[in-house]
Amino acid sequence: MSNELYNTIARVTDGIYEGIAIGGDVFPGSTLSDHVLRFNSIPRVKMIVVLGELGGRDEYSLVEALKQGKINKPVVAWVSGTCARLFKSEVQFGHAGAKSGGEEESAQAKNQALRDAGAVVPTSYEAFEGAIKETFEKLVEEGKITSVKEVIPPQIPEDLNTAIKSGKVRAPTHIISTISDDRGEEPTYAGVPMSSIVEQGLGVGDVISLLWFKRSLPRYCTRFIEICIMLCADHGPCVSGAHNTIVTARAGKDLVSSLVSGLLTIGPRFGGAIDDAARYFKDAYDRGLTPYEFVEGMKKKGIRVPGIGHRIKRADNRDKRVELLQRFARSNFPSVKYMEYAVEVETYTLSKANNLVLNVDGAIGSLFLDLLAGSGMFTKQEIDEIVGIGYLNGLFVLARSIGLIGHTFDQKRLKQPLYRHPWEDVLYTK
Ligand code: ACO
Ligand code: LMR
Repeated sequence: MSNELYNTIARVTDGIYEGIAIGGDVFPGSTLSDHVLRFNSIPRVKMIVVLGELGGRDEYSLVEALKQGKINKPVVAWVSGTCARLFKSEVQFGHAGAKSGGEEESAQAKNQALRDAGAVVPTSYEAFEGAIKETFEKLVEEGKITSVKEVIPPQIPEDLNTAIKSGKVRAPTHIISTISDDRGEEPTYAGVPMSSIVEQGLGVGDVISLLWFKRSLPRYCTRFIEICIMLCADHGPCVSGAHNTIVTARAGKDLVSSLVSGLLTIGPRFGGAIDDAARYFKDAYDRGLTPYEFVEGMKKKGIRVPGIGHRIKRADNRDKRVELLQRFARSNFPSVKYMEYAVEVETYTLSKANNLVLNVDGAIGSLFLDLLAGSGMFTKQEIDEIVGIGYLNGLFVLARSIGLIGHTFDQKRLKQPLYRHPWEDVLYTK
């Protein structure tokens, strides 16, 4: 009843201030006249519409209020249930209270009483809408209601699943990938089909160049990448990564656990200094700092120069890997200006201590700067992005995985018991 009435009022007037549905129950908490009197005192309410039903005496309190002149706004009312008289016996309508308890509670009697008290009461429910409309228009004519502008309701958005089914929209993208694609006949790396990679006899360096840098780098670049991986694949069982992997494998863990326990040691003091070395060497070289200014500036800031220093390598016991990388670059790279700068830095640091050699991280970091800048394949912005994101430690991670997997297999084959430190390896202190 409420919904139907709101619909009717909305159609023929300028809208509803407040609607309330009460009185359907045997023991309602408030009465019809309570609300009509309340609406009468609200200035923005200009007319009151009541839709009652047979049964109960609630409408009579409204009749009383009308008679006593307590309501000075037009009341348009209709009590439904006039059809009850057509039934031979008493009929219970929808609500608990909608049951005529005698002539006074009939719809006809209540409609008449309301009409007599001054309410606008039509002759049937069908005429109710017209009565509401007329009353409203009269108030407009009298200037008691200034019509408000009609608000166009916002369109309800279409259901996503329905729209997807009908092909109007597609589901939002959650993940964007720009390096590979497997929707065609065969997967592609940066647009290059796998078969073409195999047919051209390309190597791991080319695959890295496609998947990391999204372009085919010249052969000397991809060969350099491969040399880095080969030279950093392992460095004996005593370095942090291998040590952890060996202990983990001996403790009976699987391949992946043993591998990652070793990989997790990679950081600023072990294999993970390549990116920082590239960042600091690039910054110092590009700003034209002398090795003295650079190293002493780092000292002042309390930062160890990344790419410099080694536990066992010395000026008189150089790191062979560094020599091999430098030799390759000198004969293949168009320019090795960053590497030469790193060597100048090393000359200075070696004047301070014998172990402050350019280490493999520093060699790769500085030479990769030369590769990026000298190959002509990268813009200045792309070089800054690569150095900023930190691609280059990935080379050590990739390379050392080869050795760490080897150490895992080695330990599994050896079948040695659970690893324990020999007593002399551990220093107990209070
Ligand atoms: N810059 C400036 N001073 C240094 C550096 C450096 N890179 N490395 C060592 N020193 C000096 C310090 O004065 C240090 O003294 P401190 O302990 O008061 O700080 C002293 O040398 C210590 O020398 P070592 O005992 O031989 O150094 P340690 O064995 O502790 O560290 C390491 C070796 C981790 C490689 C160190 O040199 C370092 O942190 N280097 C920078 C990071 C780096 O390049 N890591 C990659 C190493 S290569 C690889 O892992 C594959
Ligand atoms: C390595 O490549 O593992 C070594 O240079 C690191 C080290 O700690 O000696």
